[in-house]
Amino acid sequence: MHLAFYDLKQHRGRFIATVFGVGLLFTIVLAMNGLYRGNIYEGLALINATNPDLWVVERYRGGPFNEQSTVPEFYHYSVKAIPGVEKASPFIYYTVERPIAGKSRHFSIIGYDVFGGLGGPQKIFAGRNIEHAHYEMVAHPKLGVHVGDRVPLGLHTYTVVGLTKEAISSDGEALVYLSLPDAQEVLYQRDDEEIRNQRERLLRTLSGQSYLSPNQADKLLAPLQSDTHIINAVLVRLKPGTNRAEVGRMIDKWLYLSAYSTEDELQLMLKGRLASMAKQLLLFRTLLLIISVVIVSLVVYTFTMEKIRSIAVMKLIGAPDRVIVRMVMEQSLLLTIGAFLFGLILIQNTYQMFPRTILRIPGDDLLTFGFNGWHSREYFRALARIENPACHGPGWMMEILRIEGLTKVFGSGRLEVRALQDINLSVSKGELVALLGPSGSGKTTLLLCISLILVPTAGKVVFGG
Ligand SMILES: Nc1ncnc2c1ncn2[C@@H]1O[C@H](COP(=O)(O)OP(=O)(O)OP(=O)(O)O)[C@@H](O)[C@H]1O
Ligand SMILES: [Mg+2]
Repeated sequence: MHLAFYDLKQHRGRFIATVFGVGLLFTIVLAMNGLYRGNIYEGLALINATNPDLWVVERYRGGPFNEQSTVPEFYHYSVKAIPGVEKASPFIYYTVERPIAGKSRHFSIIGYDVFGGLGGPQKIFAGRNIEHAHYEMVAHPKLGVHVGDRVPLGLHTYTVVGLTKEAISSDGEALVYLSLPDAQEVLYQRDDEEIRNQRERLLRTLSGQSYLSPNQADKLLAPLQSDTHIINAVLVRLKPGTNRAEVGRMIDKWLYLSAYSTEDELQLMLKGRLASMAKQLLLFRTLLLIISVVIVSLVVYTFTMEKIRSIAVMKLIGAPDRVIVRMVMEQSLLLTIGAFLFGLILIQNTYQMFPRTILRIPGDDLLTFGFNGWHSREYFRALARIENPACHGPGWMMEILRIEGLTKVFGSGRLEVRALQDINLSVSKGELVALLGPSGSGKTTLLLCISLILVPTAGKVVFGG
């Protein structure tokens, strides 16, 4: 460790810059992980939080979130009359674009029976639940409102009585809860002038009919006004021990509606609206993970390659390979861990500022680090080959010269001189090698053999394999 730190100290600026850069890359990978999880979480949050036994919607429609479904409001009484149903509540859900505090905001409105009906907010973390039939609102803090704020919607002003965080619309936008009549009014309410105009248009059409007197036409007008007692779904709670599928079939058959379990609704959402976005995000997430691994390994590789000269000098002064390999490994590890920690701290401190939910799962962080770490391990293994001289071939350093069992004998008989005896040597590209030895030990003879000026008595000289 001492050596690794010492070397990093020499290149402190560069090391910090690398940790910073690679750390930012890790931040993006971790954010992408969270975005992928968050997208699914947001899409399912409302269904999970509402969680009735059955969602009853317009026949053959895909439910209140995936597809528009209109059901007359009084149908919840019919559903209530089905055997096994304990509670059947009207439910309305739609998305609006309205100015809130001077800014145009996109959010979803839920209307429910505030007097004990299903589908309302479950947990209020500030203020209270809606207790009056009109002009009260519970909102998600994402809307940017506080308890006590007065929010104009349409022709009325609503007081924020409570805040809830547990659910969010499937688009990741804020949710607003209103009483059912209020929600219907916000949805269907039209301008007074527009209503007067429409009355006049209708009246003119009716007066044009020769079989109606003006008096009759005027009387007909009222029932012709459009009905706003419309809901999107009926939420059902069953009596304990009731067969859900059976009740669903009865609702299908007798009421000409479609009934889904919460599990069905989740599947509809996952396979429908969420499917393509989830796939897209998963693809990005995988790509980013691969990119991070490639970049980290390239960084570690260049970091090591830069040191090849220092490594050669270290070898020259007699440092064992083990020490050099350890230095390189420790530095790579420090770099990877440092960058990962930097990324982790950055995302941990910023993920709540993202406009969409970033759902942090420790398993994802581990996977990201593990993937990069595992890769580094493979890389370390390749590096470790220089430790073992027997392991030649395609190692991390290219071998350019190999000498095996080189022997050179001058003369014969009494004049025989064994200048070289069984010499083995391997030299890699870029490696610095010095021949040291007393006079007469065979340095010149070796060089002459290597340069093929002398023919060796035994052994091999191999260039570039
Ligand atoms: N042509 C030759 N015939 C016989 N003996 C030789 C011949 N060339 C070298 N030798 C002997 O081989 C041995 C190695 O000699 P070499 O010249 O390789 O040594 P060296 O390590 O280069 O020495 P120095 O440091 O003095 O240059 C010596 O004992 C030398 O006398
Ligand atoms: Mg010599």
